[in-house]
Amino acid sequence: MTDHALTVLIVGATGSIGQHVVEQAVEAGHHTRALVRNNSKARGIASGAETVIGDLTDASTLAEAVDGIDAVVFTHGSSNEPEAVNYGAVRNVLRALNGRPVRIALMTTIGVTAHYETSEWKRRGERLVRASGNTYTIVRPGWFDYNAPDQLKITMRQGDTHLTGTPADGVIARRQIARVLLDSLTNPQADRRTLELVAERGPEQADLGPVFGALEPDATGSLDGAKDTDNLPASEEPQRVVDDLNTVRGDA
Ligand SMILES: NC(=O)c1ccc[n+]([C@@H]2O[C@H](COP(=O)([O-])OP(=O)(O)OC[C@H]3O[C@@H](n4cnc5c(N)ncnc54)[C@H](OP(=O)(O)O)[C@@H]3O)[C@@H](O)[C@H]2O)c1
Repeated sequence: MTDHALTVLIVGATGSIGQHVVEQAVEAGHHTRALVRNNSKARGIASGAETVIGDLTDASTLAEAVDGIDAVVFTHGSSNEPEAVNYGAVRNVLRALNGRPVRIALMTTIGVTAHYETSEWKRRGERLVRASGNTYTIVRPGWFDYNAPDQLKITMRQGDTHLTGTPADGVIARRQIARVLLDSLTNPQADRRTLELVAERGPEQADLGPVFGALEPDATGSLDGAKDTDNLPASEEPQRVVDDLNTVRGDA
């Protein structure tokens, strides 16, 4: 049982990472709420977690999901509906919260600053989180479960410099991604950090505080992560994205 029990909403709770987050959040003693699309999806959620039905592409369905939460972990993703899902989930949860502050952990992907449609919408989701004024950690994992058995040393990079689009960019176990996302919620050294998450040869660390603490925080007011390449100019963004940024900043 953690000393820092939170009410945590997991978005993407049925996914390959979300399932690990739900299990680990329950184990840690958090009041764990899994967002699912329907009752049949709810049956797959780990015992000990509450399930709430909602459509992450529609903010009007998310009031119950966000009611009373302290934190939200986003692990959703779609290559078919990048705007509606990758970006929409972040926008719609923030809309449902209507300015109420929560701690956020957002999973996107290594290579998110490359110019592909799916990654650009994930990057825009990152920007909404930074602009929202909430305390957050943004985790960009490498290739899931491509790590060798002795490749468990949790390693955090910045600047999104590995862009081959292959496992050569970095690898990490699904279980470890879930651990980092959850740990970030209660670790002040993770606040306002954006990081690429990979594993190197060596044992897994017991304490992630120093690993988070070695990272540069994102600059106050910046839409991008510390050390990111400035290759998606805010001035050239679609008007609907600009409007969403203004709304989460409270400027609308
Ligand atoms: N595979 C890798 O090596 C790798 C590496 C880095 C990043 N990533 C990224 O990680 C993300 C998540 O990966 P994953 O393996 O966990 O994916 P996954 O198992 O397919 O899970 C995706 C989650 O998003 C939800 N979702 C997708 N479309 C939805 C929609 N229209 N409405 C509501 N919920 C929806 C799914 O809900 P349902 O169960 O209801 O469909 C599920 O909970 C992907 O976007 C991927 O690009 C992958």
